[in-house]
Amino acid sequence: MFAGENQNWALADFEINEINENLEGIQKYCSERTETKSIGMINPAMDSLRNAILKKDEKLFRKSYTNLTNSCNSCHQSTNHEYNVIVIPKNPPFSNQDFSNKNK
Ligand code: HEC
Repeated sequence: MFAGENQNWALADFEINEINENLEGIQKYCSERTETKSIGMINPAMDSLRNAILKKDEKLFRKSYTNLTNSCNSCHQSTNHEYNVIVIPKNPPFSNQDFSNKNK
């Protein structure tokens, strides 16, 4: 979130690839779990976020990020993990990482 907000597109691109690797890991190692079958529901939101990063479009980034967060929650609800609520972060997760873009 903070990479896109600061238009640090190189960092945002790196991070979306990390999310993708995690999703692939789930499909590979948790393939026997029923929840894994619905993981494709997250693809449209991931595609649109990737597109926003490619286009360096901050407005689309924010919209896609909200969509992605909603997809996380709708799966948690449908898999009886509704207590696991994902929100859009308000503060950067690490105090030792600079999310601003020095090369803007
Ligand atoms: C296909 C359904 C599905 C989608 C989509 C999904 N989740 Fe989950 N998530 C689960 C399930 C099921 C669990 C419980 C896993 C377990 O039992 O260990 C979980 C657990 C979690 C946990 C808790 C992990 C832990 O060990 O405490 C986090 C954090 C989480 N999800 C974040 C997300 C985020 C962020 C997204 C969106 C980018 C997302 N999830 C999308 C199904 C989903």
